[in-house]
Amino acid sequence: MISDNGIPGDVVPPGRMAGSEQPVLALPGGLQLRPWHLDDADTLLTAAQDPAIRRWNRLAVDSREDALARIERMHARWRAETFAVWAVAAPGGPAVGLCAWGDIDLRAGSAEIVYWLLPEARGGGIAAEATRRVSEWALDDLGLHRLRLCHSVANPASCRVAEKAGYTYEGTLRSALLHADGWHDQHLHARVAGDTA
Ligand SMILES: CC(C)(COP(=O)(O)OP(=O)(O)OC[C@H]1O[C@@H](n2cnc3c(N)ncnc32)[C@H](O)[C@@H]1OP(=O)(O)O)[C@@H](O)C(=O)NCCC(=O)NCCS
Repeated sequence: MISDNGIPGDVVPPGRMAGSEQPVLALPGGLQLRPWHLDDADTLLTAAQDPAIRRWNRLAVDSREDALARIERMHARWRAETFAVWAVAAPGGPAVGLCAWGDIDLRAGSAEIVYWLLPEARGGGIAAEATRRVSEWALDDLGLHRLRLCHSVANPASCRVAEKAGYTYEGTLRSALLHADGWHDQHLHARVAGDTA
C-alpha cells in the first residue's frame, strides 16, 4: 500500500469491480442478494410509494421510466466503481428490498451502506443479515478498509440493524441530512477491517 515515494497508494486498485461481474450473495433463510433487473422496475416504483422508505431513504421514483433508468444507472455505477446495488430476493423471485454500497472510494478504501425493505419483508432481521453479508464482501472480497453506516437519530430500527451487523457507534453528526420535516442529526456507525462482527 505504501509506494516507493513513501505516499500511500490506492487501498484497492482501480478495475477490481469493473473487471468482474457483480456477484450473487447467499443470505440465511434461502434469500439472496442479486443485481437488480429491468423486470424489477415496478418493485422500485412501489418502494418509492412506501412512506417509511420515502422518509428515511428519500427515494424518489416517479414513473416506470424513471425506475428503469435508475436500474440502468445501478449497472453503470458498478462499472464506474462508485456504487454496488443488490436486490434482496428469493432465487428467481421478485425483489423485496435493497442493500447497497454508495460513495465507494477504492482509492481511500471506504464506502457507505444503504438499505430498505418493503413492508412485507420487515420484522425478520433481514436487513442486518444483508448488511453483514455485503460487509464481508466489501472487506474480504473487494478489499475496502472502512465501512460507514449513517442513520437519522429518529430511526431506532436502523440503529439496531447497525448494532446487529457489527457496526460500532462512533458519534452523532449534527444536522447532517435534510428530511421532509427538516434537518436530522445522524448516528455514525462504522465497521473497519479486522473488527469482529
Ligand atoms: C430499517 C429496516 C431496513 C429494518 O428492517 P428489518 O431487517 O426488517 O429489521 P427488523 O424489523 O428485524 O428490526 C431490526 C431491529 O430493530 C428493532 N426495531 C424495529 N423498530 C423499532 C423501533 N421503532 N424502535 C426500536 N427498535 C425497533 C427490532 O426490534 C429489531 O431488533 P431485535 O432484532 O433486537 O429485535 C426496515 O424497517 C425498513 O426498510 N424501514 C424503512 C426504511 C428505512 O428505515 N431505511 C433505513 C434508512 S437508514
